[in-house]
Amino acid sequence: MDGTIRLADYTPYPFTLERVTLRVRLAPRATRVSARLELAPQVDGAALVLDGEMLHLISVAIDGAPLGPNDYRVTPTGLTIHPAALPEGPFSLETDVEIAPEANTALEGLYMSNGMYCTQCEAEGFRKITYYPDRPDVMAPFRVRIEGDLPVLLSNGNPVASGPGWAEWDDPWPKPAYLFALVAGDLVAHSDSFTTQSGREVALNIYVRPGDEDRCAFAMEALKRSMRWDETEYGREYDLDLFNIVAVDDFNMGAMENKGLNIFNSKWVLASPETATDKDYERIEAIIAHEYFHNWTGNRITCRDWFQLCLKEGLTVFRDQCFTADLRLGPVKRIEDVMTLRARQFREDQGPLAHPPRPDHYKEINNFYTATVYEKGAELVGMLKRLVGDEGYRKALDLYFARHDGQACTIEDWLAVFEEATGRDLAQFKHWYTDAGTPRVTVSEDWADGRYTLTFEQSTPPTPGQPKKPPRHIPITVGLLSPNGEEIVSSTVLELTKTRESFTFEGLGAKPVASILRDFSAPVVLDRKVSTTERAFLLTHDTDPFNRWEAGRMLARECLMARATAGTAEPGYLEALGPVLADDDADPAFRALCLSLPGEDEIAQALFDAGQTPDPDAIHEARETLAKDLARAHEDRLAALYDAMAVPGPYQPDAGPAGQRSLRLAALGLLSRLDGGARAEALFASAHNMTESLGALSSLIAQGRAEAALATFRARWQGDRLVMDKWFMTQLALCPPETAPDLARKLADDPLFDWKNPNRFRALMGGLAANHAGFHRRDGAGYRFYADWLIRLDPVNPQTAARLSTAFETWRRLDPARQALARAALERILGQEGLSRDLAEMTGRLLG
Ligand code: PHE
Ligand code: ZN
Repeated sequence: MDGTIRLADYTPYPFTLERVTLRVRLAPRATRVSARLELAPQVDGAALVLDGEMLHLISVAIDGAPLGPNDYRVTPTGLTIHPAALPEGPFSLETDVEIAPEANTALEGLYMSNGMYCTQCEAEGFRKITYYPDRPDVMAPFRVRIEGDLPVLLSNGNPVASGPGWAEWDDPWPKPAYLFALVAGDLVAHSDSFTTQSGREVALNIYVRPGDEDRCAFAMEALKRSMRWDETEYGREYDLDLFNIVAVDDFNMGAMENKGLNIFNSKWVLASPETATDKDYERIEAIIAHEYFHNWTGNRITCRDWFQLCLKEGLTVFRDQCFTADLRLGPVKRIEDVMTLRARQFREDQGPLAHPPRPDHYKEINNFYTATVYEKGAELVGMLKRLVGDEGYRKALDLYFARHDGQACTIEDWLAVFEEATGRDLAQFKHWYTDAGTPRVTVSEDWADGRYTLTFEQSTPPTPGQPKKPPRHIPITVGLLSPNGEEIVSSTVLELTKTRESFTFEGLGAKPVASILRDFSAPVVLDRKVSTTERAFLLTHDTDPFNRWEAGRMLARECLMARATAGTAEPGYLEALGPVLADDDADPAFRALCLSLPGEDEIAQALFDAGQTPDPDAIHEARETLAKDLARAHEDRLAALYDAMAVPGPYQPDAGPAGQRSLRLAALGLLSRLDGGARAEALFASAHNMTESLGALSSLIAQGRAEAALATFRARWQGDRLVMDKWFMTQLALCPPETAPDLARKLADDPLFDWKNPNRFRALMGGLAANHAGFHRRDGAGYRFYADWLIRLDPVNPQTAARLSTAFETWRRLDPARQALARAALERILGQEGLSRDLAEMTGRLLG
């Protein structure tokens, strides 16, 4: 009994919940929640166990009759009603509780942000609002009455009635409590409407604080695009008369898919050219889509228990990735997604926090909203689609929606619809869900008598609790190119199922050049000795854009690994980039990606994979010098691109101009190493949009010449929370590493460092953690500073403190001196009295 929850222990709830009626009387210190639950017992003699935390119980009654003190028991985690006090048939339970939203700094349950009331219930926040079976497999229709002296009172579903100081809402779709939401405040709406494919008129509103209404237009357009896309691509239509989005400044995560009332971190709604970057616009569009898509994949079909989280998150991330790929540049989006996967999920898999996409135990579910559940979960859906083809995928999804609408499901249900719709056996594929770790695939080639053979071997390194793993079912997309660059075998999916397996291509005239793992067809590490010439060839000729980029990436990586370990750097990388830079037919966004060097953490990861101990300082040095060499080698071309990629006219956030700006800024970053920041200073002075302003500022910071620009920026934007987050984050992430911990300390003293606001806290800590060599500074100052702040935040907001502790997840790959310092910091956290369950679980796992 150490508080571990296990998948194997799942049992259905012994009651069904037919209907929920809530009355919420709002007051900052004493909100009264009256709940009526209509329940029907399913098992004889079962006690009624309800979750509840931080609730002050005022009364409890069954079928209108108050219960006596011996009929129930209240604990810090819930309310249990003895079987003897329960009728045999259906009954209603009425409870009255009092809660204090103003005192809720954890931002889970009902809390206040800038005078507005709002809720966050996923995963287990509803139990901080009322006593309830707070688990996703208990679903019910809700009727909610809100009373409070505020102009806007919102909940899920359709509005049924309202008057001064009250409003009533009805949500006809049975839902788990984690999708409940309530918002009340002085808000203004940016409104629009959408007609669904079958002709339903849906009113759309984005609610924001007065003053922000002119920053909602982009999010609204993104919402309408999402609604249309889900109809055309998945046949999914919206199912209420109203769809509301609310932006809040204090929010632990990105956004939340509450039924009919999505709540967003204002960072992922509000956008104007002056305040949001191209990347922000793209993310806003993706997150709006993600939350909207959850209406079917998450809400109409939900999860049986929290172990199944990737059922909704993996699928919904996959859907939002495809949406962005369709609306923007597909291949560029794929490369960006793989970069994120490697930076976050491969890193997670490599360290002490590795876990399967479907974990089988946890202590605090909030700690499992991870890159593995989300991003790797999405890769698994993508692999399934590759294996069964587009048509098979559509059939399987149609069956999923038809069969499971209104249910709370498992990964087994999900795989079963694929098996039944397509006739495929996915028993081996299931290991992707249940086993942690990134498989390594090594490849060797054989050429004789017109026969070309590829031999693959796979293995997956041990992860916590899983020392040995069976081989996986891995789709590997391969194409073959002739020596003069023609495609002779177009993309073919090879299915690897054994530890070692060969595939032969017959009847070839000359030894081909293989392009393997096209489009990154599986989330594996491909380990293959490839000559610099062959990589350079692929970088110029591969017809698969992902592998074209990947060839350059691998060249850069090998070069950096050699430089960071005083090995001999492969020559040829700088030269190989020439043709891409000169290829004016290639998309600017694609060329920008080819110009960006692997990050320091990626190099450390690769070195560790290769059996070496990465030295953060040497890696930083190697990357800096390679960037400078790259700039020198292509100075003229870069300067020409910098000029040619200027985008005239008013700012448009679309993929085309955004791609040009990204290439221009990539060139600027390199050129600044030669011109001392002259171009960046000029751009900073003249920029009219945040993309260029922040791009120029970033280059100046990296050159250590940003003092004046940072002051100007601060003076201009100090009243804007979202922009000031960028100011905190960027200077820390990009400053010279030896100065980072001291700068962090200085910024933490800035009066604008409002540490209880999660965005601001993340901006500062995330900025430091992103400064690889700075966070890992040899004297441990980065670790100490970071640990101090996690300790301080934990009692106030444990969820955010625990999430940020992942900065330490790579500590074991470092040298013994750094390991000792990191361990000391982690042990100091773990030794705190009254540490939250969230942070205790994380530090415990980190220390392993
Ligand atoms: N379910 C949200 C999403 O992925 C994420 C989230 C989890 C938000 C927990 C808040 C709390 O869209
Ligand atoms: Zn989600």
